[in-house]
Amino acid sequence: MSSPSISEICQFIKDDLDAVEKKLREKTASHYDFVDLAVQHVIEGGGKRLRPVLLVLSAKACGYDGEDAHTLAVVVELIHVASLVHDDVLDEAPIRRKRETLHSKWGNKVAVLVGDYLHARVLSMLVARHADDPAMSILSDATQAMCEGEVIHAYKNGDFNISQDDYLKIVGLKTGRLITASCMIGAILGTKDEKIIQALREYGEAVGAAFQIIDDLLDFVADQEKFGKQSFSDLREGKLTFPMIYTREVCTAEERTTLEQVFNADTEPDSAIEWIEALLRRYRTQAHCLGAAQVYADRAKSALAALPDTPAGRALQQLADYVVSRDW
Ligand code: IPE
Ligand code: IPE
Ligand code: MG
Ligand code: MG
Repeated sequence: MSSPSISEICQFIKDDLDAVEKKLREKTASHYDFVDLAVQHVIEGGGKRLRPVLLVLSAKACGYDGEDAHTLAVVVELIHVASLVHDDVLDEAPIRRKRETLHSKWGNKVAVLVGDYLHARVLSMLVARHADDPAMSILSDATQAMCEGEVIHAYKNGDFNISQDDYLKIVGLKTGRLITASCMIGAILGTKDEKIIQALREYGEAVGAAFQIIDDLLDFVADQEKFGKQSFSDLREGKLTFPMIYTREVCTAEERTTLEQVFNADTEPDSAIEWIEALLRRYRTQAHCLGAAQVYADRAKSALAALPDTPAGRALQQLADYVVSRDW
């Protein structure tokens, strides 16, 4: 039986997610027409809303059911969207969430500034909260870690020899920390029990790693239409990711040399794509990535054993598997 989709898993929190959508729109509205147009282009562009979902479910799983979870869900989504807008400038990506990226449509200047605008909205939402709110330090630390991860990854661009360990450290920063923060903030809304908060931290870290491994895999194997992003973009950008790191280790010396040439070529890799696809099939890279991601998903599910049995806790279990089985 295939795993349920994110919308199936989240059916029972639909009212919460509708409230989050409404608040997202309200909290990002600008009086200036063009600012509003550019900002809404990315906000309304959809996306899975994984971080808001994790925050709301973590809060419910820890006994909190109030509106504050919606506000903080908006905050984590805005930090995420800002990172995507900037990431697409760095990665020169043409498509995001099935739409033209901001920088392709209006240029790098607009994209950089819209990302900054979203961070300013986050600051404004956070300062409106009580001064000792733990969400503030968790989110400022997570945002810093995310930027550090992106900086290190950008610095490593074009490095064909990056180790799997180094790669997983980068992933922990650039993707893991915001996902972990979403889970922990939800937990803290509902409980003071350190054991439970730490369980959700472990859950978030493992989900983050599984999530990025699958994102990397989908870059090679997804249906571009469904994925909503350009295929083979990591390769085009000279970003060595999990599937390539694995394949580089297991292929022959000759194949490795060709792979490195394709990776370093200045030209678009279109002519090499069939060759790479055959290489990935030969070494069952897809199955390897799914297996590696599933190890993290299983670790995430084990961490949840510390939580009471609730519908939200069960949804978090299902989400861990969804992250691996997803196709966008
Ligand atoms: C994309 O995140 C960036 C990564 C960390 C891989 P998502 O895949 O969650 O993007 P949206 O929010 O659904 O567009
Ligand atoms: C994640 O890495 C980027 C951020 C954490 C912002 P990717 O570069 O793989 O994300 P996508 O594939 O562009 O969404
Ligand atoms: Mg990118
Ligand atoms: Mg990616």
